[in-house]
Amino acid sequence: MLFWKSNGNNTPLKTAQDLNPNIPRHIAIIMDGNGRWAKKRGLPRTAGHRAGVKSLKSIVKLCSKLKVEVLTVYAFSTENWKRPQEEVEVLMNLLTEYISSELEALSENNVRVRTIGEIERLPLEAQKSIIKAKAKTTENTGMIFNIALNYGGRNEILKAVQEIAQDAIDQKLKVEEIEKEVLENYLYTKGLPDPDLLIRPSGEQRISNYLLWQLAYTEFWFTDTLWPDFDESELIKAIEAYQKRERRFGGLKI
Ligand code: IPE
Ligand code: IPE
Ligand code: MG
Repeated sequence: MLFWKSNGNNTPLKTAQDLNPNIPRHIAIIMDGNGRWAKKRGLPRTAGHRAGVKSLKSIVKLCSKLKVEVLTVYAFSTENWKRPQEEVEVLMNLLTEYISSELEALSENNVRVRTIGEIERLPLEAQKSIIKAKAKTTENTGMIFNIALNYGGRNEILKAVQEIAQDAIDQKLKVEEIEKEVLENYLYTKGLPDPDLLIRPSGEQRISNYLLWQLAYTEFWFTDTLWPDFDESELIKAIEAYQKRERRFGGLKI
């Protein structure tokens, strides 16, 4: 199956076979650079967020076609509340619009929607659209599309520690039983494999409170491309770079 056409400079066409095997099971993306994309064009930051939604649509489609098992995208961090209220409102409205306009297509493509983060703090409309998307796609068996919303890695770990402490007090759990796998069951990502590949566009090389526990052995890939310009060919570049990496997990090369 062809995923995109040659761009005219004799780049060979890529096929699913070219990229398989060794497609990352779980790809995590920090969708960054919308504001700078807009600024470069003399547009308001919100225009950048709109353009960013287009990138998201195409990347979700491609990941699903490539049979990525989990795609986790950072859409709103626990620190993004610090932004001006108008920008936060636009981001929340865009989220609701995005889900309503894409839900049918996601569902038809067997994609299952999940979220990580404290969604109870989001505006009611946004919460409703998320609940609807999860309910409609809950039986789907294809790619898990995981949206990080009001998500912060430190909050996630803190919440897990509090719940574990409470369960220990309630004698549901013995202290000596608290192992890595037990803690993982208290995280938002319960049941998901750790990300194999983290992609951050926009030139920043930091993780900004994203998946602090889960990224322990993830391969990182950075690009200066801003998120609204991040297209299918960029994703393929990232996957090809990943496929050349040698992962050792602290052991030795076999
Ligand atoms: C990412 O783009 C979107 C969110 C954080 C919600 P930014 O808005 O951070 O864009 P820059 O980093 O200012 O360019
Ligand atoms: C990370 O980007 C959060 C999202 C993309 C949702 P930020 O733009 O908020 O991160 P910093 O402030 O540059 O670290
Ligand atoms: Mg940013």
